[in-house]
Amino acid sequence: MRFTPDIVEHCRRQFPALSRRIGDRLAAFFDGPAGTQVPQRVIDAMSHYLAHTNANHGGRFSTAIESDGMLDQAHRGLAEFVGTDDPGTIAFGQNMTSLTFALSRALARTWRPADEIVLTRLDHDANVSPWVLAARDAGATVRFANIKAEDATLDLDELRHQINERTRLVAVGCASNATGGINPVRDICDWAHAVGATVFLDAVHYAPHGLVDVQAWDCDFLACSSYKFFGPHLGVLWGRRDELESLEAYKVRPAPHDLPGKWMTGTQSHESIAGALAAVDYLADLGRLLAGSDSLTRRAALREAYREIGLYERALASRLLAGLAEIPDVRIFGVTDPARLDERVATVSLVHERFTPIELAEQLGEQGFFVWHGNYYALNLSESLGLEPEGMLRIGLVHYNTAAEVDRLLEALHDLRP
Ligand SMILES: Cc1ncc(COP(=O)(O)O)c(C=O)c1O
Repeated sequence: MRFTPDIVEHCRRQFPALSRRIGDRLAAFFDGPAGTQVPQRVIDAMSHYLAHTNANHGGRFSTAIESDGMLDQAHRGLAEFVGTDDPGTIAFGQNMTSLTFALSRALARTWRPADEIVLTRLDHDANVSPWVLAARDAGATVRFANIKAEDATLDLDELRHQINERTRLVAVGCASNATGGINPVRDICDWAHAVGATVFLDAVHYAPHGLVDVQAWDCDFLACSSYKFFGPHLGVLWGRRDELESLEAYKVRPAPHDLPGKWMTGTQSHESIAGALAAVDYLADLGRLLAGSDSLTRRAALREAYREIGLYERALASRLLAGLAEIPDVRIFGVTDPARLDERVATVSLVHERFTPIELAEQLGEQGFFVWHGNYYALNLSESLGLEPEGMLRIGLVHYNTAAEVDRLLEALHDLRP
């Protein structure tokens, strides 16, 4: 593994938020799944934008020209991030949820009452409700694939059987924001395409942990959010060019009719777009450092970064899962078998016999461990597991977390106050 303690330290130094102290100790940020921290270069890119090139789109003067130049670069950068060389197929928006609602409305115009869509009970509600409401408007039927009781992974046999010649859309997440389970999205795309259905992938939770690859996965649409991969609050939508061009977008008349403007409603948060580009470049530079080569293309560098991030995070997850197994009263939802760690990202959700998730989150929060409680909008999952309304406690690890932080958290979980 090339992700040595020195590399982790090199990364951590770039994130000003990580120097926050609670009492006499550094805070441990295990809240990445709700939003990761940002490196200084993201903050710098956003302030530089606001200080020097703040302008609306399309002006014929220097700030607007520079601003538009940055936007072009950002479309290119995010296209490379998701695995395409077509910058026009990247649309920015407020967040993944808003972009998915917009797309769902446009897709639903093409659905008829006999049509069906297939969703899952593992997904975040942002990949459920937009489609349920769109299906309701179109009179289409919604089918759900359940999760398996033993390890809270998606029941793939059931999913496959739900897909039939009436299916128009399959919407599925790349990784669960609750259990961390990774779905075999390439297979799912193949099953859907075999019956002519469209696939929408929610890559929000996957993107900080693994390389997004719309070409290898062969999906039709994909959304992610830059605030989950070390950037600012901003949503990103990718779609196949022919689909984005042919669908009717809900937009104002003077807005562009071509890509990508057609899908970018209203004035964008240009400073956030500048920040998202800086987040991609942060990851790419990390890849170049790990590969020991400054000359790698951005995509090759991202591939390198994510390969090493994956190895490092799996080691951290393995340490966390092994430690949690030693703690009485803890029950984990998701894959725990050390031999199956490549089926999950380093996000672990659990319940405790003697404490509710909010009690745990508060007690740990006072000690400087930033963890999440509740259902984190994975509502169907929390309901399927019979865990509403309390939900679970979520510990999210990303590449700026350390083994020492994991060990301290495990100690704190051993020593909970009654
Ligand atoms: C898996 C997943 N999908 C979708 C979303 C919604 O993303 P956004 O906040 O950008 O709308 C989240 C946010 O937590 C998420 O974790």
